[in-house]
Amino acid sequence: MNGGQRVEVRAVTEGEQLEWARASRRTFLNPGKVTAEHVEQRRPAWQGQRLTGAFEGARVVGTYRSWDWPLPVPGGPGHQVLADHVSTVTVAPTHRRRGLLTQMITADLRAARERGVPLAYLVAGEAPIYGRYGFGPAVSGQTLEVRAPAALAHLPAGAEDVGVELVQDADLRADAPALHAAVAAGRPGAVRRPDHYWDDLLGLAPGPDHDAKALRPALLARDAAGAAVGVARYRTRERWEGMRHDTVLEVHDLFAATGAAHAALWRHLLSVDLVDRVRATERPADDPLPHLLHDPRRAIGGEGSDQFWARLLDVPAALGARGWLGPPGACVLEVHDPLGLAGGRWRLDLEGGRVVAVPTAAEPDVTCDVGALSAAYLGETPLVALAAAGRVRGEAAAVARLSAQLAWQPTAWPTHTGF
Ligand SMILES: CC(C)(COP(=O)(O)OP(=O)(O)OC[C@H]1O[C@@H](n2cnc3c(N)ncnc32)[C@H](O)[C@@H]1OP(=O)(O)O)[C@@H](O)C(=O)NCCC(=O)NCCS
Repeated sequence: MNGGQRVEVRAVTEGEQLEWARASRRTFLNPGKVTAEHVEQRRPAWQGQRLTGAFEGARVVGTYRSWDWPLPVPGGPGHQVLADHVSTVTVAPTHRRRGLLTQMITADLRAARERGVPLAYLVAGEAPIYGRYGFGPAVSGQTLEVRAPAALAHLPAGAEDVGVELVQDADLRADAPALHAAVAAGRPGAVRRPDHYWDDLLGLAPGPDHDAKALRPALLARDAAGAAVGVARYRTRERWEGMRHDTVLEVHDLFAATGAAHAALWRHLLSVDLVDRVRATERPADDPLPHLLHDPRRAIGGEGSDQFWARLLDVPAALGARGWLGPPGACVLEVHDPLGLAGGRWRLDLEGGRVVAVPTAAEPDVTCDVGALSAAYLGETPLVALAAAGRVRGEAAAVARLSAQLAWQPTAWPTHTGF
């Protein structure tokens, strides 16, 4: 029986963190045990973050966590906004669908707006959840699977000078974080991984399975001068049917500073003995792998999905922070926001790779909801596709021009992080 008792949404105290972590783990259907020691390890990461709970008496029936962290936006290295990163969103199955998520997320978005944070960012557990709060799917990830062994047809210049070492995850701590940060800085939507996340990922933080994690295989690519230029982290899933193997090598992290390093890593991955398929998840939409293959039809699947969702909170600040490649020109844009946080009408002037948004009362050329503009903001989701779906309205030429202006290369990068 839980119908009558009042539920209070408020900040979580240090003494409540264990129950809070257990509640979120339960709702995510994760049977793993959360101990006081785990919470102790997490605590430094939670410092400075906002941990919210929905409490029914002492019982935690809802969890929510957010923190401000820079997010690269289109424009190349140095173009970034402070974003309200949202995670650990759960409401107990006994308390769902009575508005607890709505209460937690609207308060958080409003507070972020008041702090002057122009964007919120999250990974959605299920796609139908966050559109109603003004989020749009802004970064996609694709799975690429290649039948192995597979030959490469083309090698970019310099690939022959890249050396590939077989190492273990724990060996990556010295080189991988800085390389990842450098790659991420040039890709919209690529969250820089915090130190504690690296320690966790590479099995260097104490935890239930940290020994096994530290020993997982990895590749480290170095250029002729010995500098780290690429990393691939993977696992193999061995499968036999009688005397025949059908073994999959799963790449769950691959990043490289250059096309040459990317090709050198793939050349190695596609030639490992006893491996029949190589599957890489969370690859960006513009991954060059299919263009490297001698037989591109060996790349199968290409299954894709939304990876990150964005939510604009301050349209002029967000548009002004990113770089623009598209044709110059002006447009009056009207944005509707059901939560009343980011709506308005502005004249956008694109000149010299920058946009200035000035409030106006002029008739709009393009009208959309905040979720549609948020989906297009990081340069990957075409505004014209959103218009074809009825999410953006306006004269076709005006929509096409704004769509071309918002587009950005390289595409957003769905690298995973400590969300
Ligand atoms: C998703 C979750 C947090 C929603 O919490 P909640 O308190 O039930 O949400 P609310 O009551 O505020 O729902 C608000 C609206 O969103 C809808 N909604 C919520 N979750 C939904 C889902 N998973 N799919 C479709 N609609 C959903 C509700 O039906 C409701 O619609 P209405 O306003 O038209 O009635 C909760 O169901 C949950 O913890 N699920 C499992 C964990 C999870 O997926 N977390 C999200 C990880 S990013």
